[in-house]
Amino acid sequence: MNALHMLWEKLIEEQSARWKEDAERDLWRPRIHIAPPSGWLNDPNGLCQYRGVYHAFYQLAYFQPEGGLKFWGHCTSRDLLHWEFQGVPLCPDQPFDCHGAYSGSALTEEEGMYLFYTGNVKLSGDYDYVNNGRESNTVMAESRDGIHFDRKELLMTNADYPKDLTKHVRDPKVWKQDGRYYMVQGARTKQNEGTVLLFSSDDKKNWNYLHRFRMEEPFGYMWECPDLYEVDGHVVLAVSPQGVEQDGLKYANKYQSGVCFLSGDFRDTELIGGFRELDGGFDFYAPQSFRADDGRRIQIGWMGMPDMEHLYKNRTLKRGWQNVLTIPRELSVRDGVLCQNPVKELDGWWNREIHIEGAYCGVVDPCCELALRTEGGDVKTVLSGGLTLRYEESKGIFWMEFTDPLLGGGRDVRGRQIGKLTEMRIVVDVSCVEVFLNGGKDVFSTRFYPEKDQYHVRTEGGVHGVIRYHRD
Ligand code: FRU
Repeated sequence: MNALHMLWEKLIEEQSARWKEDAERDLWRPRIHIAPPSGWLNDPNGLCQYRGVYHAFYQLAYFQPEGGLKFWGHCTSRDLLHWEFQGVPLCPDQPFDCHGAYSGSALTEEEGMYLFYTGNVKLSGDYDYVNNGRESNTVMAESRDGIHFDRKELLMTNADYPKDLTKHVRDPKVWKQDGRYYMVQGARTKQNEGTVLLFSSDDKKNWNYLHRFRMEEPFGYMWECPDLYEVDGHVVLAVSPQGVEQDGLKYANKYQSGVCFLSGDFRDTELIGGFRELDGGFDFYAPQSFRADDGRRIQIGWMGMPDMEHLYKNRTLKRGWQNVLTIPRELSVRDGVLCQNPVKELDGWWNREIHIEGAYCGVVDPCCELALRTEGGDVKTVLSGGLTLRYEESKGIFWMEFTDPLLGGGRDVRGRQIGKLTEMRIVVDVSCVEVFLNGGKDVFSTRFYPEKDQYHVRTEGGVHGVIRYHRD
């Protein structure tokens, strides 16, 4: 352990003591979403189930709620709903990660857990930080127990990546398949095109570049946080592109996250297409997934959006923290569409129900779910008097719109073509709203900031169903 690491440990301990007092008084702290104890959170990292326990790591600027130097925060859970903070296992404490332990993934084996991440280095000087002045190092950290990570090893530097790339190469996702290890990383070429690199290895330390995934036409200048997995017999490449132009209702956020289905084995396929956004709301980026012991493919995203500080005001900032992760979502493919639904543990947790038939108006628990069906026609649900979720049947569009700017912290309106609406699940968790339409074919995620007495809902149109919540 070096001197810098010891210093970080001391500062982290002091910070942890401080947030424990503040968290008690926190109006907008969610109950079943992962939130940072203090500071700024972004991407989910290292999602896995290890020795029966679920682990979620995340990008954390522990001392800087407005964002800054990145560490990895860590929490664990036995039910994917209630998470316990386990500390800050990765600190920028080496020459190869001194400006941030950036995003990455976990690989679990019999003997231990391995974290792969990007060691970010920004040289000081007059650089553009795209082609020069930056190092993107691929690093592996090891742990025997999944809690303490003591050995870091530098695996690759920019010199090991293809020569036509800029210095932007990051976010390794590693998995084992057919007796070999595979890794995908996001990258930006010198032509300013986003791409995903594929590597393989026999020993998880020495990596060979195989090929890259790309689209026929360039799609954004950089692809971040790739993920590659199989679900219901389909091979899926998830990617978060930057630099995609808005196209009508599509690509309305600053950056996108979506999936492409591969037409063949990932080892032989380079050309991808059919990108479909994973979320139509305001706050969703950099999703990652893992395979649970029972075979489920579970995805968690960052419920936030980079570079939106000028428009989105996350009102928890005053309380010293900002951003959350989405609820874990189980993935499946139906009618050729990747569907996302809250993990089944959520159904089991709700233990109270109120029935709704047609128009309804009433107070709700700050943590609840509305599960509604509709037989057609326009449908409207208003949360907290200022967040309207509306289906416009004549256009087949579902809208998420804030009519109260304070409630939405600057968010305005998003819409998405969904065809026919038959059912919706609206999961509300204090300052988080996730809407799952038609069995998870379309999803909308947003943060919102109701006052204490503002937890109420109003529905209009032909809906029926239940409001569920939990009582101890
Ligand atoms: C995505 C991202 C990643 C990077 C990380 C740094 O939000 O930009 O590409 O590794 O955040 O926090």
